[in-house]
Amino acid sequence: MATRAPFLTTRFGGYYHREIPQEDAELTRIGPGTPCGEYLRRFWQPVTFSDDLKDLPVALKILGEELVAFRDFSGRIGLVEAHCPHRGTSLEFGLVSETGIRCCYHGWLIDVDGTILETPGEPADSTLKDRLCHGAYPTHEYNGTIFAYMGPPDQKPPFPMFDTYEREGYRLMPGKKYNYPCNWLQILENAMDPVHTSFLHTIVSGSQFTEEFGVIPELDFIETPAGMIYIATRRMGDNIWVRMVENIMPNLQQVAPIWEDGKNPHDFDGPMMSRWIVPQDDNNTMLLEFRHIAVEEEGTPAWWIDREQMLPAQLPITENLEDQQRQPSDYEAQVSQRPIAIHGLEHLGSTDRGITMFRKLVKDGIKAVQEGRDPDVLSRDDKPVPTYCNDTVVYSPAVDNVEDDIKMMREVGRKLAEDYIANPPLSK
Ligand code: FES
Ligand SMILES: [Fe+2]
Repeated sequence: MATRAPFLTTRFGGYYHREIPQEDAELTRIGPGTPCGEYLRRFWQPVTFSDDLKDLPVALKILGEELVAFRDFSGRIGLVEAHCPHRGTSLEFGLVSETGIRCCYHGWLIDVDGTILETPGEPADSTLKDRLCHGAYPTHEYNGTIFAYMGPPDQKPPFPMFDTYEREGYRLMPGKKYNYPCNWLQILENAMDPVHTSFLHTIVSGSQFTEEFGVIPELDFIETPAGMIYIATRRMGDNIWVRMVENIMPNLQQVAPIWEDGKNPHDFDGPMMSRWIVPQDDNNTMLLEFRHIAVEEEGTPAWWIDREQMLPAQLPITENLEDQQRQPSDYEAQVSQRPIAIHGLEHLGSTDRGITMFRKLVKDGIKAVQEGRDPDVLSRDDKPVPTYCNDTVVYSPAVDNVEDDIKMMREVGRKLAEDYIANPPLSK
């Protein structure tokens, strides 16, 4: 099977373009033992919210693995293989206990670290439970969210604290969790594709953010120590609005406020959200967010402070196909790229430089893991990790010549980004 479809130059030539190349397995397959799956497993991943863990266990699928999460009655969190080590009954039906979880079928009791504490049907002198462990993963609870480390135990990094978590004047709130039935990579790529904001979110579907997003920006992309950002620069009257949205490797996005309009000059302001894109399996992905809320709440829309509310334009407007066709959201755009978008059918243009850069960063990370190294961005110290997402609005009236003005806008955007990378504003 070809890896790339022919570049079709024949009118009415569908006949020459019927074969569907294979997906790019290296970047899209995330199950155990796959190159990308092993890479993703080197990082702490959020798996569910704390308030999902009540008196009943919760079944989860993460990185192609069936798991069960629970909080035992002594308050400890367990994330274990779903199927009981005895004969495979799902621990989703288990009894959360004072210590660990007990399988509903024959009562084996399993601790949060996989220790088998009791095998009630076995003879009293059985040593089976002392010799056997159940599969379990270490967890870390932060900001109402349960994170897990699913990589090799001897490679476990410290839980990363990003510099946006403890930002003066802001509080952090767990937000929404929702699912897209498609591969993780195309969801991450969306954040490095600011042109879709002008088209999908403004021209096609009516202003889903602010009107000003409809101005097609000057675009630049730059690698950061944590991953990459796009720099979208727009002329707004006497101001230059510079917007930077970032992908933190491998699967965290930070998005600047969608209520920005570029009308009032201000310094670096940081993200409105940090959102993980967690593969459940190759064709299904969970999006899970932290919201950054100004303590003053000035400028923060009321819907963003209400955890029940949803960010606009992320999910279908209704369940009705016609409504979805008339006002598509990110969901329709990304899910309809196919369950796994086929790179061999794409025709990338100049605005897709962010996509190419992001894929290269994923490949670099995969290669590092294959060669037995830490991925470059993996932090092993306890210091907050600098990040770079923000809007900055600079007072800078236009120069006469349009081309010179565009050149100036690009320079202003690039210079700001380079300064932020040299001196991360939230890590001072
Ligand atoms: S299958 Fe779980 S105890 Fe028997
Ligand atoms: Fe979008």
